[in-house]
Amino acid sequence: MEIKIGLIGAGFIGRSHALAINAVNRVFGDEHFVATPHMLVEADEKTATTMAQRFGFRIATTDWQRAVVECDAVVIAVPSYLHKDIAIAAAKHGTHVLCEKPVGLSSDEAAEIANAARAGNVSHLVGFTYLRSPLIRYALQVLETGELGKPLHFKGWHCEDYGADATQPFTWRHDASLAGKCGALGDMGWHVFAIARALCGPVTDLRGEVATFHQSRCLASDPTTNRAVENEDWSNSTLKFESGAVGSVEVSRVAHGHKMDIGFELICEQGTIVFRGEQSNQIEIYRAGEDNAGAGFRTVHINAEHPDYGAFIPAPGHGLGFNDLKTIEIRDFLMSISKQEQHGADLDDAVCISRICKGILRSSQKGGGWIVAPETT
Ligand SMILES: NC(=O)c1ccc[n+]([C@@H]2O[C@H](COP(=O)([O-])OP(=O)(O)OC[C@H]3O[C@@H](n4cnc5c(N)ncnc54)[C@H](O)[C@@H]3O)[C@@H](O)[C@H]2O)c1
Repeated sequence: MEIKIGLIGAGFIGRSHALAINAVNRVFGDEHFVATPHMLVEADEKTATTMAQRFGFRIATTDWQRAVVECDAVVIAVPSYLHKDIAIAAAKHGTHVLCEKPVGLSSDEAAEIANAARAGNVSHLVGFTYLRSPLIRYALQVLETGELGKPLHFKGWHCEDYGADATQPFTWRHDASLAGKCGALGDMGWHVFAIARALCGPVTDLRGEVATFHQSRCLASDPTTNRAVENEDWSNSTLKFESGAVGSVEVSRVAHGHKMDIGFELICEQGTIVFRGEQSNQIEIYRAGEDNAGAGFRTVHINAEHPDYGAFIPAPGHGLGFNDLKTIEIRDFLMSISKQEQHGADLDDAVCISRICKGILRSSQKGGGWIVAPETT
């Protein structure tokens, strides 16, 4: 089955998708689909043409409406304020949707998009990049065997320092009308909450707080003029899960020295799993019950026993990178389309995560009070 793909946006994450669209058949050699880089949409013609040529897309355009009509599937990799119109137009046209997080500007928009996808009966996936990690999927497999017992408590974090320098200019990420009311939560919280939910299940209660340390930033066009930042730099939250586990999640975009520090510690009845994104090709597992003299965490290096690693490299420990996770993501999307079955967290999960983030803002406004059933409203 040939699937003509339209890539909308070729910035930071769009380029990663462009590489993945080109790599997916070569890496997986899958006979279920042939991914064709069909149309690349960018904001101006020069960028569209340059990027289409560079990444082998047949058509370059500035008109995303063309992509939703002329392609079988679209990858939406533009700033969040554009997600809703593009995703809903695609779904109405029967065009499959892979939308980058945070899926619109708010949980209401995320729900509108998910409803449109359901009504249009299209396959849909969300850019929860780290859920594709072979080692996070291995952690899920270990949990499923039951050998570690039930999860008791989860500590998750996603901290980066791309906003740590207060003199860096204002970007679309600081503008609530372009990025949404969630800053670090919308950017990084989505990833760690997706991992938390995969490991511990839905969130039933939460309380949280947020802070904006750099309250205004200069304009890129005029460094002498400042503009107020409209969303948070940092958030911390306490969570209760349907499974009975409890946990906490911290996100920050001002964490000096933390470059891609997504991670978690999951304490279970019979052991512990620790994953750190800056050492993403290894995972630590502690199994209770070992003899005291030799008890300790075991470092497991990535290898072909871990889901999808072997498609890239036969030899253990050589490692995958961020773009490889996007290749797995594109494979999941194309499998969803060609086999008409869900392959990974989708727009319905996105609605829940968007509501969790909204719940944290609500709790923070209430001085850190508990929010009950945050995933439902
Ligand atoms: N999954 C991940 O790990 C991850 C990582 C980074 C960003 N993202 C998400 O991806 C989205 C884009 O973020 P980014 O960092 O790539 O932003 P970016 O600013 O680097 O790139 C966005 C691109 O969209 C283009 N664009 C703007 N308006 C357009 C239009 N009308 N038509 C076509 N193209 C248009 C811009 O020219 C730019 O090249 C955001 O929703 C962001 O949250 C996800």
